[in-house]
Amino acid sequence: MLPAFETERLFLRPRTMADIDACMAMDRDPEVTKYVPGPWHNPQEHRRFVISRIEAEFAPGLGYWSIFAKAQPELFLGWVLLIPDNAIGPDIEIGWRLNRHAWGKGYATEAARPLVDHAFLFLGIERVVASIHPDNAASIHVAKKIGLRPERDTIHDETPYQTYAINRVDFLSSQALNT
Ligand SMILES: CC(C)(COP(=O)(O)OP(=O)(O)OC[C@H]1O[C@@H](n2cnc3c(N)ncnc32)[C@H](O)[C@@H]1OP(=O)(O)O)[C@@H](O)C(=O)NCCC(=O)NCCS
Repeated sequence: MLPAFETERLFLRPRTMADIDACMAMDRDPEVTKYVPGPWHNPQEHRRFVISRIEAEFAPGLGYWSIFAKAQPELFLGWVLLIPDNAIGPDIEIGWRLNRHAWGKGYATEAARPLVDHAFLFLGIERVVASIHPDNAASIHVAKKIGLRPERDTIHDETPYQTYAINRVDFLSSQALNT
């Protein structure tokens, strides 16, 4: 069972099947999935993919969290994730996807921070990574703001990605500097 999180402006609760239509509608916005490969144009495959990710039993403490604003708690804003990289591992991946109406308010960064704390302080994970398309400036900003640094270039399906990463030791020393 995943914990829920609360930040200054947001509620994060484990994603469930109740969120599936909202998730699929978000993915169908071509601006949202511009830099994210997936079966977004095939409704059946898309639904199967989202269900498989909702029902997946990742290691304890890992999964997807749906995001809601405290000011409007019925409106699905998007999700953040902390799962094995590509659902396979061994690295642990952090990720974020928001509906366009929720962009530009700092929500992705605010929602990702408790996941980083959870990964390092509660789960004891050694390293958290994010694979980001080099043109995805907003996502790169989020990664950097939560302490991830560029590491190496990779290719998936002939598309270039950059791996951003943060190690537990660096996270802990940044925490110590902030106290
Ligand atoms: C990536 C995403 C989650 C960011 O959400 P968000 O809530 O707008 O992010 P935040 O407001 O927390 O931070 C975004 C930062 O990028 C900056 N930014 C946004 N768009 C930008 C652009 N086109 N160029 C440069 N910087 C940009 C913002 O100014 C902000 O930085 P700042 O706080 O220093 O001003 C959102 O754009 C999204 O859902 N995109 C589609 C899905 C996606 O690509 N997910 C990531 C896959 S790796």
